[in-house]
Amino acid sequence: MASLNAKSNLLLLSLLFLSLTTLLTSADKKPVHLHFYMQEKVTDPNATAIVVAKGPIPLPGTPYRFGDIAVVDNALTKGPYLDSGLVGQAQGLFTVMKSDLSVIWTFNIVFTYGENNGSTVAILGRDAITQPSRELTVVGGSGIFHMAQGYLLIKTYSVNIASGDAVLELDLYVYPFKK
Ligand SMILES: *[C@@H]1O[C@H](CO)[C@@H](O)[C@H](O)[C@H]1NC(C)=O
Ligand SMILES: *[C@@H]1O[C@H](CO)[C@@H](O)[C@H](O)[C@H]1NC(C)=O
Repeated sequence: MASLNAKSNLLLLSLLFLSLTTLLTSADKKPVHLHFYMQEKVTDPNATAIVVAKGPIPLPGTPYRFGDIAVVDNALTKGPYLDSGLVGQAQGLFTVMKSDLSVIWTFNIVFTYGENNGSTVAILGRDAITQPSRELTVVGGSGIFHMAQGYLLIKTYSVNIASGDAVLELDLYVYPFKK
């Protein structure tokens, strides 16, 4: 009986130790912070965001309609200007909502330059475009961002209300997967 108790105490202790180490390592993780800009060009020629399905209901004060679906291949740059150095591309889709001027993004950040070249970060989330800062979710990644977690903050740097052309400021906080 005594030895059984000792055994279960040992088991409890090792379980406690295991959960403590898990807690400590997850609290220990620091996000990688990457800062860059997204160049969204809606107008021809050389559009990088094109509406492929047009919704029926215009949204006043915007070039968009409720239900629009756009395919996006936007340049990601180091600075706010198109010629300020490429970081990669934002490739995916957004769909336009109605009630609160928001769009739902599903896209990949595809790094094509620098130390992250070849890796991707997958983003899903809600972008309420009139808000000063919007938080989207990192749902995964590939390469050095394999199984990553994190979040993406989007701010509007500049926008042409008539055309929809915009420059967005992106702050990506990504916690790389650690074994
Ligand atoms: C469109 O892209 C081409 C090729 O990159 C470039 O020469 C041209 O200046 C661009 N036009 C506009 C209006 O940006
Ligand atoms: C990025 O990686 C690809 C594939 O390995 C390579 O072809 C390309 O030259 C690299 N780009 C830069 C800017 O290093």
